[in-house]
Amino acid sequence: MIEIKNLYKTYHLKTGDVEAAKNVSLRIEDGEIYGIIGYSGAGKSTLVRCINLLEVPDAGEITVNGVQLTRMVNTAKGEKLEKIGNRQLNQARKGIGMIFQHFNLLDRSTVFDNVAYPLKYSGKSKQEIKKRVHELLELVDLTDKASVYPSQLSGGQKQRVAIARALANNPGVLLSDEATSALDPEATEAILNLLKKLNAKLGLTIVLITHEMSVIKSICNKVAVMENGEVVENGDVYDIFAHPKQTITRRFINTVSNLSKINKMIAEDVPLVRTSGNDRLVKLTFESESTGDAVISEISKRFDVRVNIVLANVEMIGDRPLGGIIVILKGNEEAIINTFRYLEEIKVGAEVLSNERTA
Ligand SMILES: Nc1ncnc2c1ncn2[C@@H]1O[C@H](COP(=O)(O)OP(=O)(O)OP(=O)(O)O)[C@@H](O)[C@H]1O
Ligand SMILES: [Mg+2]
Repeated sequence: MIEIKNLYKTYHLKTGDVEAAKNVSLRIEDGEIYGIIGYSGAGKSTLVRCINLLEVPDAGEITVNGVQLTRMVNTAKGEKLEKIGNRQLNQARKGIGMIFQHFNLLDRSTVFDNVAYPLKYSGKSKQEIKKRVHELLELVDLTDKASVYPSQLSGGQKQRVAIARALANNPGVLLSDEATSALDPEATEAILNLLKKLNAKLGLTIVLITHEMSVIKSICNKVAVMENGEVVENGDVYDIFAHPKQTITRRFINTVSNLSKINKMIAEDVPLVRTSGNDRLVKLTFESESTGDAVISEISKRFDVRVNIVLANVEMIGDRPLGGIIVILKGNEEAIINTFRYLEEIKVGAEVLSNERTA
């Protein structure tokens, strides 16, 4: 388990202070694939680098695999951060692997030597190291590349070497900082599938930093959304997709939702989405693919509203379907308010889409 409590980190630059992490608290259970998403500069790398103390926070408590890496202690001058000793930190870091966007391989070493590198001071014999490296290369499906150099590999293969190296000491946790950002879509999918396999096979806990919602959607169970150094929303990926609360979360979801076509339709003033008077253009979200029709007939029956369907779609979030329909609700103000109240009661997500051209 990874537990982060009230973490703060400020960088002091000549141009001013940058608060890269502001009061971040997160709990990541064993075996989870936990995504952290945010735009550039949101503080994702800072946060993930605090998990293995590559970056030392100003304040906060960090516990990984049962070892407390930082704690706050009371001193005469107030609260102060206390860090674990270097020897214990080195030991704890063996339990935390890390991979990066640009792979960070040793260019002058072969694939074998890159993977063997973290085992150098492990006290293992040459024979044991050889065996372990082959096991790792098998795990990432690269046994035929042991003697080649990184420059002779594709991006996806380089990342697989980096994954094998990160797993050399059999860590319980893998930190992945934009590990697929430099890869094409196919290689991205292959690496994500590999991470999913490692999670299932080894019970590996994965903290996955990304700026792409498609990555979160395909392999994460949990997600935290970061903005300006803060975690603004977090929870189950499915729940976040079904009931996003923050504008930034909706923006990320729109990047992968087929229903986001609606934005273009609004911008182009397509007749189908034109509204007038009390009309509301609404996106409804259902936690199963079949309930959409039932809800629409129910609200037309209960309230004096008419429902025009504009778009309908089913998304797969992990392996669960999430239904979505975009409709125009027509009726008087009271009927519309009652409809929204009812939708909330039956836990159907309802987001009013702004249609600037509404008369
Ligand atoms: N070593 C540093 N010194 C000074 N400022 C830093 C340092 N590292 C990060 N920052 C600043 O802290 C903020 C958060 O940076 P961070 O790298 O954590 O963001 P990020 O979410 O990982 O962004 P990206 O998606 O671009 O990688 C940014 O404003 C950045 O400029
Ligand atoms: Mg980063």
